[in-house]
Amino acid sequence: MEEKMNEFSNQKRGGFTGKIGFVLSAAGSAVGLGNLWRFPYLTAEYGGGIFILTYIILTVFFGLSLLMLEIGIGRHTGKSVIGAFTKLNKKFKWFGYLCVIVPLLVVPYYCVIGGWVLKYGWSFIVGSEGLLGSGVDTGAFFGGFISSTFEPLVFFLIFALVTVVIVVFGVQKGIERMSKILMPTLAVIAVFLMIYVLCLNGSGDGAKFTLLPDFSKFSFKTVLGALGQMFYSLSIGMCIMITYGSYMKKNVSIKSSSLQIAICDSVFAIIASLIIIPSVFVFAGSNAEAEVILGNNGPNLMFVQLTQVFNSIPGGRLFGSIFFVLVLFAAVTSSVSLVESIVAVLCEDDKMKRGPACAIVFSVILILGSLSSLGFGVLSGVSIAGNSILDMFDLLSNNILLPIVGIMTCVIVGWFVDKKIIPKEIGIDKNKTLRTAFNVITKYIAPIVIFLVLVTGLLDMFGVLSI
Ligand code: PHE
Repeated sequence: MEEKMNEFSNQKRGGFTGKIGFVLSAAGSAVGLGNLWRFPYLTAEYGGGIFILTYIILTVFFGLSLLMLEIGIGRHTGKSVIGAFTKLNKKFKWFGYLCVIVPLLVVPYYCVIGGWVLKYGWSFIVGSEGLLGSGVDTGAFFGGFISSTFEPLVFFLIFALVTVVIVVFGVQKGIERMSKILMPTLAVIAVFLMIYVLCLNGSGDGAKFTLLPDFSKFSFKTVLGALGQMFYSLSIGMCIMITYGSYMKKNVSIKSSSLQIAICDSVFAIIASLIIIPSVFVFAGSNAEAEVILGNNGPNLMFVQLTQVFNSIPGGRLFGSIFFVLVLFAAVTSSVSLVESIVAVLCEDDKMKRGPACAIVFSVILILGSLSSLGFGVLSGVSIAGNSILDMFDLLSNNILLPIVGIMTCVIVGWFVDKKIIPKEIGIDKNKTLRTAFNVITKYIAPIVIFLVLVTGLLDMFGVLSI
């Protein structure tokens, strides 16, 4: 009976048409700036193949369980986050509210960075003189751009508007349709760029550097780095997968969908590494120099060093244009998932229509995003412990709130919900080994491990330990 009702409420809310729509949309959320920009520099920093291997092992043992957990919660309850946790256990309604805060804090600054990507794509396509050509100071260009008032705001607004408009169209006609077009395009572009780079003279060393393990760089920090990256990259701990799971049909397998999402995410990350690292090697001339460039992480790597690389490699303008279109598509599919998680809460039980809900979210993005955007210019005086406004939003959400939400989700399901419910939803209730593994991971291992990530992230933030 309850299943029937869930089915009914899912239909009423509208949802993904089937497995492909769901997997592509969820993979669209997962594949983003984390894969294209963060993963490559972590790979370079933490020993190439050994980091990739660590990442894959952690994804198989933790990432998949947590992904299935969130999707399972979503589909079982058929609700957005607040409704979902209330339905799981009434005592945890408050936690649902905490969950919505995370995407609400992340999406404004994600749109600001999306705006920067848009600006760079545009500049490469039209051949903007300030950015292209040998001898251009790409650092000065980037600094000049983000510290100006008007331009970054305009690009941020366009990016945010596109995101919100896609969400207004709804799950099926907006998100699913967009993902079905953008994700395959993304794959084609990524593979094309990788083949192109690997054909350039001097890229071989870069490919070896990416894939061969350098055991001397392996340490506890490698594991922590890979773990933090995994949560962010799989969009876990932001309740996005709960929201998307609530739109999933009952006859679609959560197990195999999660596997496909995780594979998609890892493959994109590895391909991105095989684009960025070898192209830096082609440009640098020496391996030592390449490592120095790759060590310059933070937004700088993509907007300063990489553009310098694109400026000098053969066919660089075309390459750069296509690269930034790739990043742009990846960023849009991720920001859409953030907005949808908030809109779903506002529209729960027909409390509000999609249009007005999107307008509210857009207004919040406008206010908080403008603060982040202006934080590098007029508001650069406002800084907390040396961090810009954008960095503060990023640190607060990723280093603090995201792990807390992750831990709590596991604790609630592991300790306060009947332990058969979620495994049944995921479809592993009949397999004793899988079910036990899942229960042990969600009840004990994952909360402890995420707690470690939280503590080390905090120590890192306060400069006690640098990861
Ligand atoms: N998973 C995205 C990435 O890899 C980041 C993200 C996290 C986006 C959560 C949306 C929500 O870039």
